[in-house]
Amino acid sequence: MPTEDDPLFEPLDLGDETLENRVGLAPMTRTSATGDGRATAEMARYYAKFARGGFSFLLTEGTYPDTSHSQGYDDQPGLATDEHVEAWRTVTDAVHDEGSPIFAQLMHAGALSQGNRYEDETVGPSAVEPKGEQLEMYGGEGGFDEPRELTAEGIDDLIEGFVAAAERAVEANFDGVEIHGANGYVLDQFLTTYTNRRQDEYGGGVENRIRLTAEVVEAVRAATPERFVVGVRLSQSKVNDPDYRWPGGEGDAEAIFGAVSDAGADYLHVTEENVAAPAFEGGTATLSELADRYGDAPVIANGGLEEPDTARRVLESGADLLTLGTGALANPDWPTRVAEGRSLEAFDFERILRPDASIDDSEVPADD
Ligand SMILES: Cc1cc2nc3c(=O)[nH]c(=O)nc-3n(C[C@H](O)[C@H](O)[C@H](O)COP(=O)(O)O)c2cc1C
Repeated sequence: MPTEDDPLFEPLDLGDETLENRVGLAPMTRTSATGDGRATAEMARYYAKFARGGFSFLLTEGTYPDTSHSQGYDDQPGLATDEHVEAWRTVTDAVHDEGSPIFAQLMHAGALSQGNRYEDETVGPSAVEPKGEQLEMYGGEGGFDEPRELTAEGIDDLIEGFVAAAERAVEANFDGVEIHGANGYVLDQFLTTYTNRRQDEYGGGVENRIRLTAEVVEAVRAATPERFVVGVRLSQSKVNDPDYRWPGGEGDAEAIFGAVSDAGADYLHVTEENVAAPAFEGGTATLSELADRYGDAPVIANGGLEEPDTARRVLESGADLLTLGTGALANPDWPTRVAEGRSLEAFDFERILRPDASIDDSEVPADD
């Protein structure tokens, strides 16, 4: 298929950026920063490689916003100090040199924190021990601790932490930030019925459970320049509970996508293991279709889209953009390969993510 007729390769304006095609890099934690959270030259070469391979926008791995409870993993990068800003500039420069914008994903791990150099205890909406086990690929083992319930003041500090990190992202020359409201981390812990037993305005019905995510989006939007993109990521499934579904079905989807759009999100990034499948049992609409129907911002779809025809299908039904995770790890030049009609490599978990998720020598181009 010539690229001019291919929905994958139509340009799109997002904020001030004109994206050359519809394919971005999904956020992926690689636990390859220094112990105190600074991005490295290896990470700069790693990210630049995807821009060179044709990805029209890049999302960083989940990056912790503050020096208290947000860090989730050892060797995760932060945007919590001036040193972090300085280090990220090396990455943003390298990616800009290859011509793509890069957005920092801001992630507060909450009760799923399994490695934090600043605090011993974890925090969450309520004192409920998380389901599941710590992730081995990020160096964890065994169950999670029961978190301390965040106070009203703790919630204000958490919002302020996201705002300050977004301001640092501007300083580090990022083109935007993505608020990580998905996958079981703290904002999703507020949205999830069984981890949120609060009696205040952040607990109870779905309008209350999505409030914190919406407040973070609104505060970050207000604190950053107009041209700076402020997106949000949402999911039903979680790293520690893949089968969770929003219990109110489409009604929840309407409330959730409506609230974050009203808060000023510049895009809605929805992720499922297979985002091309119906979001709810017995229904037909996918999560990206529901985001398009009930939200008011461009929709990015993620999850199981490395096969080009599946990717084209989601673009033709609700999604404006898509991101690739494992498909990008296997094919750092996926957009170029597909544009040129070349074959794709299958993702090899053992080779790339064993014994842990850190960036392997084989993944980074040699120094010039
Ligand atoms: C090694 C690895 C690390 C990940 N880290 C993050 C992360 O930091 N933030 C996030 O939102 N999602 C993270 N994800 C999820 C991916 O962004 C994506 O949703 C998932 O891989 C499904 O998309 P895919 O089918 O294209 O791989 C990670 C996935 C992998 C494989």
